[in-house]
Amino acid sequence: GSAKMVRICCLGAGYVGGPTMAVIALKCPSIEVVVVDISTARISAWNSDQLPIYEPGLDDVVKQCRGRNLFFSSDVEKHISEADIIFVSVNTPTKTRGLGAGKAADLTYWESAARTIADVAKSDKIVVEKSTVPVKTAEAIEKILKHNSKGIKFEILSNPEFLAEGTAINDLFNPDRVLLGGRETPEGQKAVQALKDVYAHWVPVDRIITTNLWSAELSKLAANAFLAQRISSVNAMSALCEATGADVTEVAYAVGRDSRIGPRFLNASVGFGGSCFQKDILNLVYICECNGLPEVAHYWKQVIKVNDYQKSRFVNRVVSSMFNTVSGKKIAVLGFAFKKDTGDTRETPAIDVCKGLLGDKAAISIYDPQVTEDQIQRDLAMNKFDWDHPIHLQPMSPTAVKKQVTVTWDAYEATKGAHGVCILTEWDEFKVLDYQRIYDNMEKPAFVFDGRNIVDAEKLRKIGFIQGLAMVVR
Ligand code: NAD
Ligand code: UGA
Repeated sequence: GSAKMVRICCLGAGYVGGPTMAVIALKCPSIEVVVVDISTARISAWNSDQLPIYEPGLDDVVKQCRGRNLFFSSDVEKHISEADIIFVSVNTPTKTRGLGAGKAADLTYWESAARTIADVAKSDKIVVEKSTVPVKTAEAIEKILKHNSKGIKFEILSNPEFLAEGTAINDLFNPDRVLLGGRETPEGQKAVQALKDVYAHWVPVDRIITTNLWSAELSKLAANAFLAQRISSVNAMSALCEATGADVTEVAYAVGRDSRIGPRFLNASVGFGGSCFQKDILNLVYICECNGLPEVAHYWKQVIKVNDYQKSRFVNRVVSSMFNTVSGKKIAVLGFAFKKDTGDTRETPAIDVCKGLLGDKAAISIYDPQVTEDQIQRDLAMNKFDWDHPIHLQPMSPTAVKKQVTVTWDAYEATKGAHGVCILTEWDEFKVLDYQRIYDNMEKPAFVFDGRNIVDAEKLRKIGFIQGLAMVVR
């Protein structure tokens, strides 16, 4: 090939676009990578010392290549026109109104990105779907691009991302696989090869899978559905464990030792959260319905139903253990992020649990090492879109939230004078808290509800805690 430097532009500087492009830049010094976004605030943050997202190892990667071959810019049009490969990593949330509301993916941002590309491009481009999209999206995108193409050739590839938040950098460094889907034409295959060359800088070629476009698009939805299904399966078992005296941790361990099942991703919890599992499964359900497959749609919907059930079951357990009322009682909430090692609160089970407790008039005091007070207040006052009719949660006014909710920067402060403690995120630091000290400063009887199975149940019992443990009975 020519000595010309390959140029990559990525639309969307979010949880996926930022870390993914930073790792490509780090691993491919010969490629120039520019990440653009319509949010100038986000771009400024990427160019500052305070990156817009918390992700272990990310600061280090960005520091190594920002200004060298990694750039963050608000000049969307300039960088699109200069790039050979354009990744689109914009958000694709669930539609909240119109056709398919509550299930279908909202492709407004994607469509507007595609229109910008069509308007601005002056040379041939490879356009890569990095966002998670419904199967067949490439067909729609192709229509938008080709309609305005003025003779310019666009090749569309699907390259879904499988990183998990909290471990994004490691996942990107050592992916289980990279998936590339493209058209089965010579031009399509040439584009697939060009993208494969990028990843081959650090990913072993036997881990780079190539498929047709529709398989790549659908595999992403399928993978998230399978992962979430494992959690709902073990969470459904946790309910039966509580009813029978079995210990869900022991059951999960015994089941996971079967090499066909495997040990990972079987932790019972207060429910899964995060921006994608629910959104992607709803999207899958909608696609099944649109394709005349109601039985398949119903099957996957149950994964979300069980997740909603698990969250409301947790709230019910807290309230019923505490003599059927938490009105006026202080309840400490340890952890608000949807999982450890991230400050992300999108769809965190903590929102539903806190709203449930607030509905019963509890005074809650929240501590999370990475989530700001502002974010928590906003999340709790937000009128969450009801995808079906899960736990009925009254929206609260920001002032009402402020009255009933305090946010602290210390676990001991949060638990002082509390009647109960709910652990909602599995932060490592919660495993090593001085629970004797916490107990001594609480009202008695002191309750603990471990929604993540991280504390030593026996140790806590000895201290004197009553374990209205929602997930484990020992
Ligand atoms: P995000 O909301 O963090 O980032 C999306 C960014 O795109 C925002 O900063 C937004 O301002 C920007 N944007 C929107 N329209 C734009 C446009 N027309 N031009 C330029 N920028 C635009 O979202 P995210 O978490 O990074 O997710 C992005 C996609 O990746 C979603 O489809 C998601 O399902 C998928 N995904 C997410 C994860 C994850 O862990 N978060 C993992 C795998 C896949
Ligand atoms: C998930 C997938 O793991 C990624 O592969 C995928 O790329 C991503 O969604 C996406 O498409 O957005 P993420 O949501 O960031 O990643 O984090 P996970 O580690 O999957 O955790 C999701 C939720 O499930 C968290 O609330 C977590 O606490 C919960 N969980 C996870 C459990 O309750 N039990 C488990 O055993 C594992």
